Amino acid sequence: ASTIKLEGKGHAPVNIALSKYWGKRDTILNLPQNGSVSISLPGLGTDTTLRPLASDSSQQVTAQDRISLNGQQLDAHQPFAHRLSQFLDLFRTAEVPFFEVITHNTVPTAAGLASSASGYAALVLALDDLFNWQLPATQLSLLARLGSGSASRSLFPGFAIWHAGQSEQGLDSFAEALDAPWPDFCVGLVEIDVAEKPVGSTAGMQQTTAACALYSAWPAQAERDKAVIINAIQQQDFSQLGATAEHNALSMHATMIASWPPLLYWQAESVIAMQKVWALRQQGVEVYFTMDAGPNLKLLFLAAQKKAVSAAFSGLKVIEPFAKPDTQAAS
Ligand code: PMV
Repeated sequence: ASTIKLEGKGHAPVNIALSKYWGKRDTILNLPQNGSVSISLPGLGTDTTLRPLASDSSQQVTAQDRISLNGQQLDAHQPFAHRLSQFLDLFRTAEVPFFEVITHNTVPTAAGLASSASGYAALVLALDDLFNWQLPATQLSLLARLGSGSASRSLFPGFAIWHAGQSEQGLDSFAEALDAPWPDFCVGLVEIDVAEKPVGSTAGMQQTTAACALYSAWPAQAERDKAVIINAIQQQDFSQLGATAEHNALSMHATMIASWPPLLYWQAESVIAMQKVWALRQQGVEVYFTMDAGPNLKLLFLAAQKKAVSAAFSGLKVIEPFAKPDTQAAS
């Protein structure tokens, strides 16, 4: 008897890497050159519903998936839909040759806020629900990785560690939770520009690894930073965490800037915001930043500094990842 349900649902949060993933050792399987550590942001993420589009006579026969994003039906050739359908190719069965995918993001799509991470994690959770696999989160992480590397970390609330793994098949390259709640830990989102980024992370990684002499130093540094950050989380040593995360992000961006043609995700306002962070630190406000493949900054600070940081960055969206849902402040 079939265990396929009428629909499957999944929700996953976005995550911000504190120690970054940059560079693939296998571009098909999304195997990374180095491991990474992240924090998930509750309240920002993706909700996905999946329904089988059967090709039996009771339903209209279809030769493709039906995909909608934020209430809008997407053309199959549109890049987002095309990539999603390619991923779904891994899961088609005789009973479910095509899928209807209804997905809603509570983050701006492709704005350097990792909507692909929450997107593929939510999709894998919806597949697990639809096919009734009941796989453990680490196995789902492995599947989400095939959609987008950073999605491997979005299966978990709080901190997550993505192990780079060593095998060619990548069965040892998955994320797991680092269960270490840190109640006063805050992440602030400084939105410089939420427009779609001109160079996606896959192309950016390719460009950097192919044409940057500095890149050869990156994987070892990233692994060291990862270990330091894990230790800082376990010790709740915020200074060590913040300094290592900021240095890690700047080192990653240095490899991009030093590639040819150069790859610079920053805008003038990004640099102004970085200088503001450094000025705040000079004044004794302990705040650090991290940045991904986009112009936006993510600030790291503790709740005691929330007022000072919010005063310096107007319109700052503050997330407290470990706050209880009813006290979750998004100011
Ligand atoms: O998961 P991808 O392929 O979008 O790559 C993410 C890359 C960074 O966001 C820059 C770093 C990271 O670890 O999330």
